Amino acid sequence: MHSPSLLPSIIIRPETPADEPAIEILGKNTFGPGRFARAAFRLREGVASDPKLSFVAEINGRIGGSVKLTHVVIGDKRALLLGPLMIDPAHRNMGIGRELMNRSILEARLQGHRYIVLVGDFAYYGPFGFDRIESGKIRFPGPADPARILGCELAKGAGEGYSGIVRRNY
Ligand SMILES: CC(C)(COP(=O)(O)OP(=O)(O)OC[C@H]1O[C@@H](n2cnc3c(N)ncnc32)[C@H](O)[C@@H]1OP(=O)(O)O)[C@@H](O)C(=O)NCCC(=O)NCCS
Repeated sequence: MHSPSLLPSIIIRPETPADEPAIEILGKNTFGPGRFARAAFRLREGVASDPKLSFVAEINGRIGGSVKLTHVVIGDKRALLLGPLMIDPAHRNMGIGRELMNRSILEARLQGHRYIVLVGDFAYYGPFGFDRIESGKIRFPGPADPARILGCELAKGAGEGYSGIVRRNY
């Protein structure tokens, strides 16, 4: 007789509207009230992320991870804003963040998008293809440490010409 598996069941899938309450709780637990002041949060406020490019990790049937991509404009060029990326503390360092990142970047590339921008740690996002941006070239409307503004070209040379303020894409 087989004993039950102790390994969690992890499914990475596109988010649906029904996931939103659980994602909201994950955000509250991860970033606390400070999340409302984050530059990227303010850009996303009231703007739906792209459900074809936003994924959740369902861990043992519950939402335990989430990544969102939202359409923005930088200067006069369309781009994507990545974030928040968040994993339930009980399930960190298991590669789930990496899976969500790889899936969202792959889908963005397959769907012909050119460039992704985010505010985050270069040490974490560098291996996914994100680079630091020359200081002041791309700016956020709210407070954002320039050293944490990172960009990822989805095709060779696709990041050229991106400069200016990141704005909402209505
Ligand atoms: C950052 C986060 C999404 C990573 O998710 P995860 O599923 O634990 O990540 P993975 O298992 O794919 O990768 C773990 C690796 O990333 C490293 N890592 C985690 N956060 C890091 C950071 N801020 N800077 C550098 N490395 C980091 C871990 O040390 C680990 O390294 P190892 O593989 O050498 O041991 C998760 O820790 C989290 O939700 N943090 C709080 C929210 C947050 O800061 N989100 C990012 C900003 S929006």
